[in-house]
Amino acid sequence: MQIILSDYQDQLVKGLSHRMNNILTLFHGYLGLLLDNEKLDPVTQEGLAKIKDGARVATELMDRTNALVRPSNLMPREIAFDEFLNQLAPTFEKLRTFGTTISIECADDLPQVWADASRIRLALTELVKNACEATASGGAVRIVVEATEASPKESYFPASQPQPTSWVTVSIIDDGAGIAKGMEAQLYEPFSTTKKKHIIAGLGLTVAMGCMQQIGGAIDHERSGGKTTFRLTLPSRLGGKLKAVA
Ligand SMILES: Nc1ncnc2c1ncn2[C@@H]1O[C@H](COP(=O)(O)OP(=O)(O)OP(=O)(O)O)[C@@H](O)[C@H]1O
Ligand SMILES: [Mg+2]
Repeated sequence: MQIILSDYQDQLVKGLSHRMNNILTLFHGYLGLLLDNEKLDPVTQEGLAKIKDGARVATELMDRTNALVRPSNLMPREIAFDEFLNQLAPTFEKLRTFGTTISIECADDLPQVWADASRIRLALTELVKNACEATASGGAVRIVVEATEASPKESYFPASQPQPTSWVTVSIIDDGAGIAKGMEAQLYEPFSTTKKKHIIAGLGLTVAMGCMQQIGGAIDHERSGGKTTFRLTLPSRLGGKLKAVA
């Protein structure tokens, strides 16, 4: 299932997000000043603290929304994946829930990925976060990186361009309970979540999918042998030489 933002929707989300960020900057500035006033009565102070928390959640929502739109400055480059993952290890460590172990396995002689690294980092972080949440009561998360010449079934790579001759797959495998009943059909849809009391939850997979759309990659998932796998497929060498995705 693929959700692709049209140019019009992309513009609209970008415009809204830009304006909302300006409004939120004002909120944060003035709330900070008001809360510094020690003469405020406790009721007003409590009310302002609640508004401040609401503004923080709104800022977080806008940050995640920003990840959905096409950045004007996509910067594809060669990425050596083993090095790239090593740099990300501290980020994964922060996502790790109590009792969860995270291991990284990279195949030898991986071809270099050709894509914007920021998009891969975002998508990967969301998937590792989900896997850690799925194994929150203790479990194992494996990140397995391999090369393949087989094109993914459904990729966002522009059909008009020479197709990559090889791809790098990054599988995030966890031994949690699996995808909840009824979630499967709307998994990648915005705000589709099993989290309770999180008003801005349900954007992780939408963001990951949006990132793959922007770099011409693919995302899919499967459940087998008691394990859940979410897999990113990333373009490597294109038609024998390196070339940017439009
Ligand atoms: N590895 C996984 N195992 C089981 N269920 C998963 C896994 N990854 C995602 N899901 C399910 O998909 C839903 C949507 O995931 P998504 O990342 O989009 O949002 P979220 O994790 O609920 O919230 P957010 O990422 O915004 O904090 C999750 O609520 C969960 O039910
Ligand atoms: Mg998530």
